[in-house]
Amino acid sequence: MPQETLTNKTIFSGIQPSGILHIGNYLGAIRQWIKLQQDNTTIFCIVDEHAITVPYDPKTLPDRVLDVAAAYIAAGIDPEKSIVFVQSNVAAHTELAWLLSTIAPYGQMSRMTQFKDKSKKLSSKDAISLALFSYPVLMAADILLYGTQVVPVGEDQKQHIELTRDIAEKFNSQFGETFILPEPYIPTDSARIMSLTDPAKKMSKSDAEKSYIALTDAPDVIRKKIAGAVTDTEAIFSFKKSGPAVKNLLAIYKAFSDKTEEEIEKQFDDATYKDFKSALAETVITTLEPFQKKYNEIRSEDTELRLILGKGGHRAQGIANAKLHEVKIKMGLV
Ligand code: TYM
Repeated sequence: MPQETLTNKTIFSGIQPSGILHIGNYLGAIRQWIKLQQDNTTIFCIVDEHAITVPYDPKTLPDRVLDVAAAYIAAGIDPEKSIVFVQSNVAAHTELAWLLSTIAPYGQMSRMTQFKDKSKKLSSKDAISLALFSYPVLMAADILLYGTQVVPVGEDQKQHIELTRDIAEKFNSQFGETFILPEPYIPTDSARIMSLTDPAKKMSKSDAEKSYIALTDAPDVIRKKIAGAVTDTEAIFSFKKSGPAVKNLLAIYKAFSDKTEEEIEKQFDDATYKDFKSALAETVITTLEPFQKKYNEIRSEDTELRLILGKGGHRAQGIANAKLHEVKIKMGLV
């Protein structure tokens, strides 16, 4: 779906609490959520049950969940307008995931690139959990429980949304009209922010720290990471002609500065990498400053955050349980 203005749609998206959020999460997903929040019904989940499909630390997970909740709110998600909740607080997600797994096509599941990438990082076949394989079915359940029409995500999630549509279609034809088929909503310019150290890989929180800019990185850390970012052999600043490393840095500059491509190319016409990188770092730092200030205030209010998530969970349960009940009746389980 192109970047058109949407109104009166039901919108759902989520982020895994598997580490601190980075600018890829912000530019690929959260920034769109804030815009969509105004004129649509919006539901934003912290998908902790997805985060446990790879090795993780159960002692720090509760804090990571609060980190993401604080980041959502600091970025501009208003919990009075949007439902903000934690996946594991709504049991209907895992129950529907099981029911959908009875019709999920194994062949198509085996072609999921996120599964292939993530399982490659694990040491052996036995270190790969069954849940990592069935992860997209849980994601389908997340989306389908809420009558979601639009899912704002980065490019990497497109394949999972296609699978969700296929599962919904198959269910509807087998058991009768039940699910709405969701559409992905992917930004045109920042759908895939690449790693600062390897422009062939997407920026990811599971890679080395110098490869991503966390939303909470201090100004000096941001300056250092950008200064250390790989570049191409020739210092050309062109959205068409630059190599992949500089194209990625230009995309980040464009997203944070809100300037046009022509303005940016003109601005850096005779620039060195040093000039460009320092302008980029200062733009990122200035844009993140209000976010960071708000994040630090909110993140220290654990009780308030838990209250928000509790309320959100309650609202989500109401919607999700009704849909689950309908599904169980259709499947002959009640
Ligand atoms: P996750 O937690 O990996 O990422 C959260 C969101 O950030 C986007 N994103 C990026 N966008 C641009 N450039 C990048 N380098 C980049 N890295 C991440 C992702 O596309 C995503 O939108 N499976 C999902 C979580 C999920 C979900 C859902 C999403 C579970 N259930 C239901 C939508 C609806 C995931 O792993 O996102």
